[in-house]
Amino acid sequence: MSSSTTTHTLPTKFSVIGAGQMGTGIAVVAAMNAKVPSVNIHDVFPSSIEKSKKFIESLLDKYVQKGTLTQQEKEIILGERLSFSSGTDLSPMADSQFVVEAATENTDLKLGLFKDLSELVHSKPSSSPTILATNTSSISITKIAAVAKDPTTIIGMHFMNPVPVMKLVELIRGLQTSDATYERTVQLAEAMQKTCTLSIKDSPGFIANRILMPYINEAVNVLHEGIATKEDIDKTMKLGTNVPMGPLTLADFIGLDTCLAIMRVLYTEFADSKYRPSPLLVKMVEAGWLGKKTGRGFYTY
Ligand code: CAA
Repeated sequence: MSSSTTTHTLPTKFSVIGAGQMGTGIAVVAAMNAKVPSVNIHDVFPSSIEKSKKFIESLLDKYVQKGTLTQQEKEIILGERLSFSSGTDLSPMADSQFVVEAATENTDLKLGLFKDLSELVHSKPSSSPTILATNTSSISITKIAAVAKDPTTIIGMHFMNPVPVMKLVELIRGLQTSDATYERTVQLAEAMQKTCTLSIKDSPGFIANRILMPYINEAVNVLHEGIATKEDIDKTMKLGTNVPMGPLTLADFIGLDTCLAIMRVLYTEFADSKYRPSPLLVKMVEAGWLGKKTGRGFYTY
């Protein structure tokens, strides 16, 4: 995908909603790589904000030790660029030119958030309205845009985990997304030193998860049918296709609940049996074996 030709102004205030792994990573990369002067991380839970702060401090310490970040730059990022807020009041985001939502993957929650956020930032007409991007991995951008006061400003900006390491940002245009919104999003993603791809159509799973999740699901089926051990399934794909992790290790890393939720979106939206979630994946989620985050998935951690 080629870079945009029109030059827009980069945001001076950028906000991220959701202080989980993804939101925290997005904020760090905006403050560190794009040098956005003001980056706010917002979460409903103060405990998530505390965890996010600790993670950022240790990550920046590691970069300083490795020599990829100076002590002075670390202090500027922590002391000047980054700020944190928590609670249900969205007003800390009111003066942002760009907001990325990285909250829980729940359609009703996202629709409510985008409606309220849009009321907050789009109440006055502007030649450069605030962009409201979502990091959703599977929910329709068009559906989210439909609840916004200015649907032209809504776009999918799908980062990969871990955000500071992974080069890709998958962009998704909803039916209503304007060219200016798309160009400004590409410009910011490139300033964050990411490479963009574009899902031209707002189709279930976009590009990455339309391909990745059926691959993971099939690996679970191969295990379920007793065709090979989990170790051999992973070894086959790791050594045979040169990927950093085999599919079952990757599923544990992503979270089996997330993998199942995305498979269910594909299965329901396409109404095609080829996307049927593996019965083993369903059972593992029922057992609460969600992968790395719960200490047990296909492997124990
Ligand atoms: N945040 C920041 N940096 C991190 C990190 C994190 N959460 N996790 C690992 N890293 C860094 C490490 O610090 C290390 O950095 P240096 O090389 O500078 O020391 C580097 O990544 C490598 O880490 P490790 O040596 O610990 O381990 P590794 O070599 O196995 O790499 C990995 C870890 C980067 C996660 C690698 O295994 C990998 O690329 N795995 C595949 C990840 C992947 O496919 N992600 C996409 C998932 S799909 C998705 O996100 C979308 C969706 O909608 C589901």
